Amino acid sequence: TILTIGIGPTRVLVITNDHVTRLVGGRDVLVLCHKGQLHATDMRCCHSGGPLQEGDMEEFDGRICIVCPWHKYKITLAEGEGLYQAVNPSATPPKQTWRSKGVKQRVHKVTEVNKNVYLTINDSEPPVISIQLQYKSTVHNCVK
Ligand code: FES
Repeated sequence: TILTIGIGPTRVLVITNDHVTRLVGGRDVLVLCHKGQLHATDMRCCHSGGPLQEGDMEEFDGRICIVCPWHKYKITLAEGEGLYQAVNPSATPPKQTWRSKGVKQRVHKVTEVNKNVYLTINDSEPPVISIQLQYKSTVHNCVK
């Protein structure tokens, strides 16, 4: 099933360069605008459920990432890949390069139609880590 919902007027996100969060199909989703580009991802960080809506946007190796405020994991907004810096100690001088841990965070499709933003939830399998954290957190919240 494809689930698409309206988020609101594009200008609200683009002018404020800001974000909104929505609970969609039982999942917290973050929709944000960075330099005029719209992105969407699960709101909980794939590492340990940190609040990505409070993260900073930064570019690493030419890729736009959201940096989790809890432990500074870097997640690409286009694919949901975790990035890390690797060092080749045998190079002289030791050389640092950016590498990918693979797709860890679920990202969603954002489209603009008639100056309104629409979010289409990515339900592809297998589930990535950020989904498991959502369910864990929901259970946790119910127990409290
Ligand atoms: S919870 Fe996001 S980096 Fe640890």
